[in-house]
Amino acid sequence: MNIQLVTKTRKTGDLVVPLFEKEEIPESARRQLSRKDRDFLRLYLKRDKVRGENVKSLLLPGNAKRILILGKGNKKNWNHRKARILVRRIVQSMKTANLKEGTLIMESVAQTATLAEKAKLLENTAAELVIADYAHNEYKETPKEGWPTIHKMQLATDYSADEKRRLLEAVANGVIIGEETNHTRRLSNMPGGDMTPQKLAAAAEEAGKQTKVKVTILDEKQIKKLGMGGVIGVSRGSSEKPRFIIMEYKHPDYKQAPLVLVGKGVTFDTGGLNLKPDKAIHEMHMDMSGGAAVIHGVAAISRLNIPIHVVGLIPAVENMPSGSSYHPGDILRSITGRTIEVLNTDAEGRIILADALGYAKRYNPRLVVDIATLTGAAMVALGQRVSALFTKDEKLEELFRSLGESSGDYLWPMPLWDEYEEDIKGTFGDVANVGKTEAYGGSITAAMFLSQFVSYPWVHIDMAPTMTAIDSDKLAKGAKGTGVRLFTALARHLATPSTEK
Ligand code: BES
Ligand code: MN
Ligand code: ZN
Repeated sequence: MNIQLVTKTRKTGDLVVPLFEKEEIPESARRQLSRKDRDFLRLYLKRDKVRGENVKSLLLPGNAKRILILGKGNKKNWNHRKARILVRRIVQSMKTANLKEGTLIMESVAQTATLAEKAKLLENTAAELVIADYAHNEYKETPKEGWPTIHKMQLATDYSADEKRRLLEAVANGVIIGEETNHTRRLSNMPGGDMTPQKLAAAAEEAGKQTKVKVTILDEKQIKKLGMGGVIGVSRGSSEKPRFIIMEYKHPDYKQAPLVLVGKGVTFDTGGLNLKPDKAIHEMHMDMSGGAAVIHGVAAISRLNIPIHVVGLIPAVENMPSGSSYHPGDILRSITGRTIEVLNTDAEGRIILADALGYAKRYNPRLVVDIATLTGAAMVALGQRVSALFTKDEKLEELFRSLGESSGDYLWPMPLWDEYEEDIKGTFGDVANVGKTEAYGGSITAAMFLSQFVSYPWVHIDMAPTMTAIDSDKLAKGAKGTGVRLFTALARHLATPSTEK
């Protein structure tokens, strides 16, 4: 999608105008219409009011221009979450109306008071346009007319010559964030047969080639030598060998100890010998979504040139049942020396993450954030609209909630109290990989398990709730692409001295 910035006085093509209930067509959109069309629209909207979130696609009689009017509902109920979804609805409605290009009146998306606000709005709009245009079609025969996609969007707003550069950069940055989010979704959407640990590592290497990120891949032998008994244990049932992916980006102007991002890279989770029931298994090719978010989160941070030192760590395995699988009851020695008593082979994510979190220590990190499709229990608790946030640090909890709100990768806090620790005490090993009260608080005991391998400031994100897009996300079916927007917002925050803690 080609996204352009235009002033509102320029003559443009088909118009996209979001409107609240009872709102008039704004002056900036009217300016682009002939008198005849303005009269037509006024009469039309008088008779046929904008209601709720409906969409009207009208051909104007004056110059055969099309106008797409999207309802924003009642002004009183408007919020920033709806504003992001609105941009995606625009793409969906344009595809339905078979529009390949359009001019979006920005002030109808949101009002802005400052240049910084305007830049942010343009960045978010560009990102969401790109995200909404993506669909996972590469395994299907291309129709003769091609897949529906938007070729060009003009974002219409007022700006001075001085402001132009800053706003153009904001649009370009939004496109980067959108593209990297879509790369993440592509990796998650690939079937398990085609997205093995080796392929995930190759994808990381490819992302490294496109950016200034250094990528190192450890093979099974090196993983063993490091003492990652968890990664080795979980991978044993599969003929696909494990990989440990290390990505590193060091901006020349970075000032502080690194931010380390850790992502769960289970390329297919059958549950192992504790095999998953058939209903739960088919989406488990997306169990590497956290890993994909780290790969393309680091790539995005590099492409955006954020002055920071960031490291990405992705343990990549396939969890399979076979004659060589790890067994329930096995005791695995993690890289930290602590032993893991495997009570359920389907709680595999936390086992490989234990090794990655232990490995993270060697960077003397300023902050470690892990992201994982870790528990079905997080979905039970929160539904499918927000990821679960765990940290023992109240300041980090507050920071991440607000980064979640502003980035669109929403986060909601859950408890990580010491009291839960007794639930994961091992009988024959140091830590058990499932809680004693398995039916209750499963995402909390999983987080508690991870905390046993951590010795630095740390945040855990259980993204199982937001792995898959739901209808109200207004996205193509499949992976939602959680994480990239959050990680770029986090990196920017950490790179800005004024907001330092
Ligand atoms: N990958 C799953 C969690 C998951 C489930 C992610 C559904 C996305 C959608 C994880 O490895 C798992 O199997 N967790 C178990 C833990 C249990 C055995 C304690 C679960 O949630 O059932
Ligand atoms: Mn599992
Ligand atoms: Zn899993």
